[in-house]
Amino acid sequence: TRDKMPPVPGDILVHAEPSREGQLVKVSDLSEKLVRAWPQGKAEDGSPLIRKGDPNNVLCIFRFPKGQIVAPTVMEATIDSEIVAYSDICTHAGCSVANDDQNVGDMKCPCHSGQYDPKRGCKVIGGPPPRPLAQLPIKMDGDNLVVGDFFLEFPYPFLTEQEWQARI
Ligand code: FES
Repeated sequence: TRDKMPPVPGDILVHAEPSREGQLVKVSDLSEKLVRAWPQGKAEDGSPLIRKGDPNNVLCIFRFPKGQIVAPTVMEATIDSEIVAYSDICTHAGCSVANDDQNVGDMKCPCHSGQYDPKRGCKVIGGPPPRPLAQLPIKMDGDNLVVGDFFLEFPYPFLTEQEWQARI
């Protein structure tokens, strides 16, 4: 069903935190601390549809000062080399990854202390995750942040690639 589809190019990013769920994500909302977001597409009747039927679809978005985002982040998939989005689902066992309170701008998984660096392609910098969080290409459409393309790598620990493709 459409609410379980992975992010689709053109989907608008909306807040996922319960207190703001469904509000458009604005550039001014973003910082070095992650903002969780859902992709919002359209239902068959054209009305807005948040793709939250699959918890794997939760995303995290960051904004860093220019020059801080570096390889292996795919720069063409960022907004002005300042705003970057990833899957928020830990590649180890699928927990939702949080901010690292000891190291602002890094991420730490609450389940087994996996650590990722979102300035460097969310590469693993600690703990058991086997691979980086998948980067999601994003771009601006007017004032909205939108999905530019599919994830650059297969993002989900508990789906096969065939199951994922079947949802697209
Ligand atoms: Fe994230 Fe284990 S699920 S480190």
